[in-house]
Amino acid sequence: MAVSYDKERKIFHLRGKDTSYAMKLVKDGYLAHLYWGRGLRQVSQGRDLVWKDRGFAPNPYIEDRTFSLDTLPQEYPQTGNGDFRACAYGIREENGSRISNLLYEDHEILEGKPELPGLPASFGSPEQVTTLKIHMADSILGLHVFLLYSVFEEENVITRSVRFENRSGRPLTLTKMLSMSLDLREDEFDVLTLYGAHNNERNMDRRPLTSGSVRVESIRGTSSPQQAPFMALLRKGATEDTGEVFAANFVYSGNFLAEAQVDPFRNVRFQMGMNPWNGEWLLEPGESFQTPEVVMVYSADGLNGMSQTFHRFYQNHLVPQAFAGKRRPILINSWEGSFFDLKEEKLLELADRAAEAGIELFVLDDGWFGHRDGDDSSLGDWVEDRRKLPGGLERLSQEIHKRGLEFGLWVEPEMISEDSELYRAHPDYALHVEGRPYTYGRGQLVLDLTRKEVRDYVVESISQVLSRIQVEYVKWDMNRHLTEAGSGSLPWNRQGEVFHRYVLGLYDIAARLTGRFPDILFESCSSGGGRFDPGMLYYMPQTWCSDNTDAVCRMRIQYATSLTYPPVTMGAHVSGIPNQQTGRVTPLATRGYVAMSADFGYELDLCKCGAEELSQIREQVAFYKEIRDTVQFGRFYRVNSPFEGNVCQWNFVSQDGREAVAFHFEILSQPAAPVRLLKLKGLDPDGVYRDQESGILYGGDELMYCGISVPLKKQDFRGECFRFMRIK
Ligand code: DGJ
Repeated sequence: MAVSYDKERKIFHLRGKDTSYAMKLVKDGYLAHLYWGRGLRQVSQGRDLVWKDRGFAPNPYIEDRTFSLDTLPQEYPQTGNGDFRACAYGIREENGSRISNLLYEDHEILEGKPELPGLPASFGSPEQVTTLKIHMADSILGLHVFLLYSVFEEENVITRSVRFENRSGRPLTLTKMLSMSLDLREDEFDVLTLYGAHNNERNMDRRPLTSGSVRVESIRGTSSPQQAPFMALLRKGATEDTGEVFAANFVYSGNFLAEAQVDPFRNVRFQMGMNPWNGEWLLEPGESFQTPEVVMVYSADGLNGMSQTFHRFYQNHLVPQAFAGKRRPILINSWEGSFFDLKEEKLLELADRAAEAGIELFVLDDGWFGHRDGDDSSLGDWVEDRRKLPGGLERLSQEIHKRGLEFGLWVEPEMISEDSELYRAHPDYALHVEGRPYTYGRGQLVLDLTRKEVRDYVVESISQVLSRIQVEYVKWDMNRHLTEAGSGSLPWNRQGEVFHRYVLGLYDIAARLTGRFPDILFESCSSGGGRFDPGMLYYMPQTWCSDNTDAVCRMRIQYATSLTYPPVTMGAHVSGIPNQQTGRVTPLATRGYVAMSADFGYELDLCKCGAEELSQIREQVAFYKEIRDTVQFGRFYRVNSPFEGNVCQWNFVSQDGREAVAFHFEILSQPAAPVRLLKLKGLDPDGVYRDQESGILYGGDELMYCGISVPLKKQDFRGECFRFMRIK
């Protein structure tokens, strides 16, 4: 049984295949956190709560000075009555009071997992997932809180979310509503987070937890490239392959908060959820509020164990299942080769070269609509520019298909340009605060997706395009963050809801468009990988990793992205040199191998490539087709980190274990260079594998524990690929 309740000891035990999570009811029904870690057969007196009268720790019961919420390891801490650490939720009553206290009422254990209305969330059959719903209440407020824990037993994953219900006769404002909070009674951890910027997404930042808080967040309206909605606590000394990791990833694309707080008694409060900054929600009597969910992963096998779990889980229980196992086409994208300078004739020449190279999908990026000759106009006017496409999208798509390619189209549905027909007709469609000037981002404004008529316009105008042409792929871009986040359609006391209502609006249009066009492969994008989060992956099975296509930078970006997301969710392209973001000149082979480690494509003007380059591209495309199933649907292992030195290595193992593909990158050529070893991971030690290039036979144990020597080469930005087939 994945969830059990010991009535006598009042202990809840959530049991995954190899993990356990336990909570206990104490006193009048306070919910205490007991344990999260390796699987236990049962939880009885282990890690029992120890009571002590601590100075300055307030007591709810005058007769018991050893009991204080400030020292209790809590599961969903309240505020204003004695716990001075970070609370999990906050409220404001009509009388201005912000105090709340939650006590246990009852609980339910359900087979399966309820949907979270309007929100992306993981899913599973009743055989795969069990949900514990703990009902807590503040009887003075009339606030009822349902803590939802879904246990995916086989996957070793727990998801958490919270539903608030106002059962009082008065309005109540939620001022904070996190999805996850737990108090680990240990503090020997490092914290791992992912920070970055446009063109420099997801850098790994590992630092010791000492005292006070480590907190990362976004208040930009999207999950953001600046910080990813991810935090992991790593047991001191934990490595890529060993040691304990406690990780959380938020299934949400808006403002978030992740925090690890060390209290004076060396407990760690680990929290994640929506950011309370400008994020209130008014609950009228009878109304409820559902938070997005957090995916929690415990690994006893270091970061690798954590990633294997996230990868499997997102592929099987989060992304649209029609695409989970569907091969992703090799594409050519028009952006870096042409930018806004699009011409039908030129595009068809590009398509000719792409078809000759064996490329499968032609993507028309930004610049095809309105009169968009630069980034300062036309967003919202989803009608093709006949100056550029005299035969319209219809003819372009037909011609592309005649050449044996699929057709894909770029859109930026959430935006509006001041210079657009849409803005001239509906200036109020932009997010704004009456009387305040706009703040621009990339010269554009954000649509007020809190409004139904705006969402309907987006869905209808884009549907009209997608339904009148043959199109197999859509790139959904989003190129600025939210400012003046106000909506004319909401009263003053609901303006604090705009950020979340925007995200709900985004999910609504994403659900309607992907639902209307279930055969189209959607790729999300936000100036590169600025909104790479599980919320978007629920609607769109892949995300453009970064606008930075420089092979060296991409090693790091893809390496760190793989901490939580499998390579099949990452778009990666070969672009021209010198690289447009870094000016670096790297070999085509290396650019190819980095991009081949994910959903492969090109983003350069093939018409400007020489015969030799084109022939190399043809070979790359053919090679990727051979290894594609292993890359897209196999297991991925990080071997050597580009964050730690001059070498980056990783390898893939096919689902059936028959093929292994390993990549070795060396960034700078060095004098007196050491001979590098490549030790593969994830093979069967008893298997026998043939190196496809040399024909040499290796034992799986030999490849993994002894490794192969990588021949020396005098070359900067070097990339090598080794392919092995299992023969026994
Ligand atoms: C930002 C994206 O990340 C790029 O790939 C490209 O689509 C541009 N926007 C187009 O404006």
